[in-house]
Amino acid sequence: MCGIIGYVGDQRGDTDVLDVLMTGLSGLEYRGYDSAGVAVADSSLAVRKREGDLSALESAVADGSVEGAAGIGHTRWSTHGPPSDVNAHPHTDADDRVAVVHNGIIENYGSLRDELEDRGYEFESETDTEVVPHLIADALSGGVEPETAFRRAIGRLEGSYAIAAVFSGSETVYAAREESPLVLGVGDGGHYLASDVPAFIEYTDRVIYLDDGEFATIEPSSVVVTDDEGTVVDTSIETIEWDAEDAGKSGYDHYMLKEIHEQPTAIRQCLSERVTELEGCIDVDSLASVSVPDRVQFVACGTSYHAALYGTRLLRERGVPATAFLASEYDVDAVPIGDDALVVGVTQSGETADTMGALRGANRVGATTLAVTNVVGSSAARECDHAMYVRAGPEIGVAATKTFVSQQIALVMLASELTGEYGDELVAALRDLPGKIQSVLDASAARGIATEYRDSDAFFFIGRGYNAPVALEGALKMKEITYRHAEGFAAGELKHGPLALVTDRTPVFALVTGGSNPTKTIGNVKEVETRGAPVVAVTDGCADVERHADFVLEVPESHPALAPVIANVQLQLVSYWVANQLGRSIDKPRNLAKSVTVE
Ligand code: F6R
Repeated sequence: MCGIIGYVGDQRGDTDVLDVLMTGLSGLEYRGYDSAGVAVADSSLAVRKREGDLSALESAVADGSVEGAAGIGHTRWSTHGPPSDVNAHPHTDADDRVAVVHNGIIENYGSLRDELEDRGYEFESETDTEVVPHLIADALSGGVEPETAFRRAIGRLEGSYAIAAVFSGSETVYAAREESPLVLGVGDGGHYLASDVPAFIEYTDRVIYLDDGEFATIEPSSVVVTDDEGTVVDTSIETIEWDAEDAGKSGYDHYMLKEIHEQPTAIRQCLSERVTELEGCIDVDSLASVSVPDRVQFVACGTSYHAALYGTRLLRERGVPATAFLASEYDVDAVPIGDDALVVGVTQSGETADTMGALRGANRVGATTLAVTNVVGSSAARECDHAMYVRAGPEIGVAATKTFVSQQIALVMLASELTGEYGDELVAALRDLPGKIQSVLDASAARGIATEYRDSDAFFFIGRGYNAPVALEGALKMKEITYRHAEGFAAGELKHGPLALVTDRTPVFALVTGGSNPTKTIGNVKEVETRGAPVVAVTDGCADVERHADFVLEVPESHPALAPVIANVQLQLVSYWVANQLGRSIDKPRNLAKSVTVE
């Protein structure tokens, strides 16, 4: 996930192009903050880009040498190539005729790069994006106009993109969209484009949302949207009703809710280029050199530990012994690590001190280590032998939501890739997963259930198999953001003690999905029902648990390993709405931090 901005001034106003771009980038920093850059077109192109947060770029442009009539900018969240000045956008062709910024993933960049290199084009960066300026330059060399060159280059791309380009000596910004957000801003003193409205809300609240397959041409006096054949598309200008402060949340009241809603996109990004439906295959480049281990030990904390628990079951089902350790309890001297063990650190931040301590211990005794993380270039990614990125994009809310789902999906791919066991059914179910989660987001009954039970004495969550870690995660989310007492249990454990806590003021959320031993869980549901506890069934309808439930949170049918992933989204929404109705500080819960760098 990255953010792009473009601006063309109409020269009536006195707004400086560079000021607009830098303001826009600060409004988009939530989409990525590992490097940033701008390109401004005058008689030549001025390109400045720097690794690090926006302050590094601010210093690079402070000398006043970047001036012109049209410009583009980018804030990066690395997916291909680590954060560095060279990998930062914009990318240009060898003669600096065109500069390009991109958000998304170009899936066929490997073959395009090979083709261009064979024809003598030299690449500077490790990014997928750099193929675009070279493709444009190639078309320009054939004698066509910039707009035609831009369209031809876009026509060669497969994957997701919001792309903007400026040409030296031109006052026009060209843009195209496919599966990545792109919105145009129609101003009085100039026109804008960006990944999201916060980039330009300070200047205009009149917007045009681009659809997939559409192109935009922004000039000082006009904004024109066309389809892929160049035919002008009728567009309507909408007026945004947010103020600048709300805008970073794209209209959601909290980052957490926004991030819950970003989960379908997060999953698509995690799967991109790794799961091919046509070939029915899961193939993760970063795991190609990881040998099949005799056993796997996961080390992780909090939500990531719940993902690790989920991962152990995926591996054990495929015949690989796997154990999950709370990283703070992992002691390499006490836990035997065999020569053929793989130690996997699951950590969204890649910086958690407890997890880093466990991974460093494993490295010290010579184990093979793998980081499953969201942050490219994080300590975990750098210090482990291997790194697999979950690609959720930046998560601002302290409570982990989209990073958890992305970790689960990454672990499905890890288990499949290590063992070669996936099967057409799983591949198809992975492809369908974003749509199924979207249907939960569109029609969840969570808000009403939150209203019903928000004043309860405690909340309990139960589930078996793949649903057991989801029950733990449901309770952790509830505790973190509502400050209410909540506990999660493997459903069979309830009768071994916790049942004593169950009353008519303690709703029990029962996760009952196909393949996770639903009949036995229904036995546990009856145990709480007869003690008067309200029951909320989170179910795909596999075992008629509805008969015992006061409320139902529906889960679309899916693969047995993936239905619990969907069920978790319902639990996230319940916690969110309880916290919202109790007026809690949802994005920054008391006493908690996003990245815990002390042991
Ligand atoms: C809960 C949460 C924490 C983290 C834990 C580990 O919502 O976010 O429990 O999961 O602090 O953090 P990472 O994954 O960064 O190692």
